[in-house]
Amino acid sequence: MKINVLISPLNAEEMYFAGKNTVVIDVLRATTVISAALDNGAKEIIPVGTIEFAMKISGDAFGGHRLLGGERNTKKIDGFNLGNSPLEYVKDVVDGKSIILYTTNGSKAIVRAKFSENLITCSFYNLNAVADYIVKMNKDFEILCAGDNGRFSLEDTVCAGKLISEILKLKEEIELTDSARASIALNKSFGKSITKMFSESEHGRKLIDNGFKEDISFCAKLSKSDIIPSYKDGVIKKFVNEQPA
Ligand code: MLT
Repeated sequence: MKINVLISPLNAEEMYFAGKNTVVIDVLRATTVISAALDNGAKEIIPVGTIEFAMKISGDAFGGHRLLGGERNTKKIDGFNLGNSPLEYVKDVVDGKSIILYTTNGSKAIVRAKFSENLITCSFYNLNAVADYIVKMNKDFEILCAGDNGRFSLEDTVCAGKLISEILKLKEEIELTDSARASIALNKSFGKSITKMFSESEHGRKLIDNGFKEDISFCAKLSKSDIIPSYKDGVIKKFVNEQPA
């Protein structure tokens, strides 16, 4: 079993992922939102790469069963039902709903990796469950950090490092690429206080400046959910008993 970390989606073309097993991480905040929404009963998440496509597939024909969620420059998009704060994705709002999700980096990273054989998402919120899943799969994995507009982002790489560290507690014989080893080292340096690491990161500071301080606390929660969000045929559903529900 081998684990590689891609520190930005720009490190790989769409076809790179064909036949691979991929974990996408965008802890601030897209993959935390996905975990929270599924935890609170959302039927599915439909990640999209453009706002135009989100609008196109939202339609009125679905009788309120579909919600549009996401952000541009951290803020809710005009005409969307929800922004990109995990605190908005509560049971009363999302239970039984399909959520079309557009975000600056996270939903695009998922779409980029869509040709993967297995594609799941990870955040601190569901980290241990993802570690268990990867160990049980016992296959090579790519961890794709959503980054920030093609640039490195500390929080996604620290999350990748924490995920690999958890996997190594369960299974020792794993081949690690240089970027996987560097992610572990970053987690050792910055992962002791996730809230502090977030608050000092570029995107974390931007979220705080834009009024989303409480999101930082939510996104720092570690392993509160057992859900494995699993992408298949354009939608992300809860992975249950070897099959997406
Ligand atoms: C993204 O996809 O870039 C993030 O989720 C942005 C955000 O924090 O809302």
